[in-house]
Amino acid sequence: MTPTSNSPTRHSRITGTGSYLPPNRLTNDALAAQLAADGVETSDQWIVERTGIRARHFAAADVTCSDLAVQAARRALEAADVDAASIDLIIVATSTPDMIFPSAACMVQQKLGIHGCPAFDVQAVCSGFVYALTVADSMIRTGAASKALVIGSEVFSRILDFKDRTTCVLFGDGAGAVVLEASETPGILASELHADGRHVGILCVPGTVSGGNVLGDPLLKMDGQAVFKLAVGVLDEVARAVLAKAGRTSADVDWLIPHQANIRIMQSTAKKMKLPLEKLIVTVDQHGNTSAASIPLALDESVRSGKIARGDTILLEGVGGGFTWGAVLLDL
Ligand code: UT7
Repeated sequence: MTPTSNSPTRHSRITGTGSYLPPNRLTNDALAAQLAADGVETSDQWIVERTGIRARHFAAADVTCSDLAVQAARRALEAADVDAASIDLIIVATSTPDMIFPSAACMVQQKLGIHGCPAFDVQAVCSGFVYALTVADSMIRTGAASKALVIGSEVFSRILDFKDRTTCVLFGDGAGAVVLEASETPGILASELHADGRHVGILCVPGTVSGGNVLGDPLLKMDGQAVFKLAVGVLDEVARAVLAKAGRTSADVDWLIPHQANIRIMQSTAKKMKLPLEKLIVTVDQHGNTSAASIPLALDESVRSGKIARGDTILLEGVGGGFTWGAVLLDL
């Protein structure tokens, strides 16, 4: 039963998941061959050893963030057995929207053929989905919404510098979505969001548009080692904080779904939490780093494969440009 607005027992719960990957899948070898044609040297061995990535998907040139998002959203709606017309909030986490404005969320709303409900984007780079889920949970608990679509969707291939081997081998395109509904029993148990703008420069796309011209550089720049060090530290801290907030311990966690950027960071997080590696959900090998899409993509794949089941306790953790980080602990 759906509780009434502002009820003290009003919570939010994920009732369906969906995801979508564009069909063009590139293995490391295929990408390395393409890069070699432009004089950029890399190898499957380097990429696997340093990151755990074996393949990624790239969207076709005419496919946008909202195109991927709407495919994932339709699958999540179907899984939740929810009609698009009853959705009363759409949030898209993305750093690669179709346009500067309007938001990708407004385009998703239009493509779903629904009108009137609030729709907006959240931009927190690779922490975007954790941010968006927290915002949707808050809006549901206060009664501002009852059935939300929360989507992470990215076409990072559009902002990659294919002459920079230190970044272009790491990222991929894709989308993941959840339907989050008001519920008497808690699904989302606790969340923690953080940012530290002192680290703006270590992961950024330092360009903008002004007077019809691109100002600065519109391609991704990353100081990989600086990001690595910060990520390992904050993911450990935020995992402890969100568990403490919910009154749980790591022994209560059935599955850890960290942002899928680098297998070494992910395994280090699991080890620090004393979680067996079997509880770590890994899709970075097949998807690469899909930024805000990586967590909902990994969640949906694990639900559909039967690995994650209803009732399981899941810890989601995001970390990325800003510097931003956050975690959501939930019962599915
Ligand atoms: O999504 C937001 C979160 N992002 C992340 O979490 C990314 C965090 N950072 C990382 O995952 C890692 O720092 C990287 C995967 C980006 C890099 O791994 P690393 O172990 O830190 O390598 P490195 O930057 O220290 O580079 C080692 C060597 C260098 O050569 P020299 O100077 O030792 O001769 C690089 O030039 O590897 C070289 N290198 C490559 N070689 C082949 C860098 N990129 C490549 C490449 N192929 N693609």
